[in-house]
Amino acid sequence: MPKQSVIPDKWEKTVLLQQNRKINKFIPETKKLDYEALQNMLKKHKMVYIKPSIGGGGVGIMKINKLKKKNSKQYKLQKILNKKYFVTYDGLFNSIQSVTSKKEYIIQKGIYLCKYQDRLMDLRIMVQENLKKEWEVTGLAARISGANKIVTNVNSGGVTVDFDTMLNHFFTNADKTRFLEMLHTISLETAKQLQKSYPNLKEIGVDIGLDRKMYPWILEVNTKPDPRVFFRDKRTIEKVVRYGRSYGRKYNLKPKYEHEKKFARKLGKM
Ligand SMILES: Nc1ncnc2c1ncn2[C@@H]1O[C@H](COP(=O)(O)OP(=O)(O)O)[C@@H](O)[C@H]1O
Ligand SMILES: [Mg+2]
Repeated sequence: MPKQSVIPDKWEKTVLLQQNRKINKFIPETKKLDYEALQNMLKKHKMVYIKPSIGGGGVGIMKINKLKKKNSKQYKLQKILNKKYFVTYDGLFNSIQSVTSKKEYIIQKGIYLCKYQDRLMDLRIMVQENLKKEWEVTGLAARISGANKIVTNVNSGGVTVDFDTMLNHFFTNADKTRFLEMLHTISLETAKQLQKSYPNLKEIGVDIGLDRKMYPWILEVNTKPDPRVFFRDKRTIEKVVRYGRSYGRKYNLKPKYEHEKKFARKLGKM
């Protein structure tokens, strides 16, 4: 069995996806981090995210807010929990650079993520090659952030919530159908686009943020997605694992967090 492709670099994935007209409108503006790029991005956007191009779990992610003109402080920089304020752009950039100079980082237009249960929410869509060798959406999950966190990753204090309950909270039945169709289209097209450059790609996990108008934004695409976000739903996780096994993927299914342990006990042996 040929080894399945993994694309670790967020910048590379962004560039590949931007080439597809159907997906491009769902990608927040993204640049490689440097002095001028950040300055320009902050002229255009009130809020931006900075992330290591290679990495995961929400590690190393920062958020910058441009503050109102009447304040003496111009920028707010937020890491996992700590907040710093800066009067000048150079002060801000120097502070960022002290942590970002060793690795490549990207800047992304910040999305004002819609809130659920008073926490930031985003979605994880799993797309896998099925037994007929066609792309199929196999899992949908919704995650909410830990209290006062800027990321929703389970590794950074996030938890999953029931997907259908979440949908019913935000949508009427007719809108729900249209919304789900859109998520499917975006995720399947994303898989197809990346596969053009990586023929041995077998699975992706798309992180989709919804803004306050419920417009979907692709925040990142994982090429080695963790299946444990689907522990809530036995049928989903079983399918994910079955498809994964068919192309030789071995998942770590050991629950790591309390909430995962609770769901894992109900799943039994897989
Ligand atoms: N542009 C953005 N706007 C708003 N929130 C974002 C943005 N980018 C990332 N996030 C938040 O940070 C989380 C982690 O970012 P992501 O790009 O998925 O990196 P990682 O590889 O660490 O998971 C996302 O799930 C989302 O909650
Ligand atoms: Mg992610």
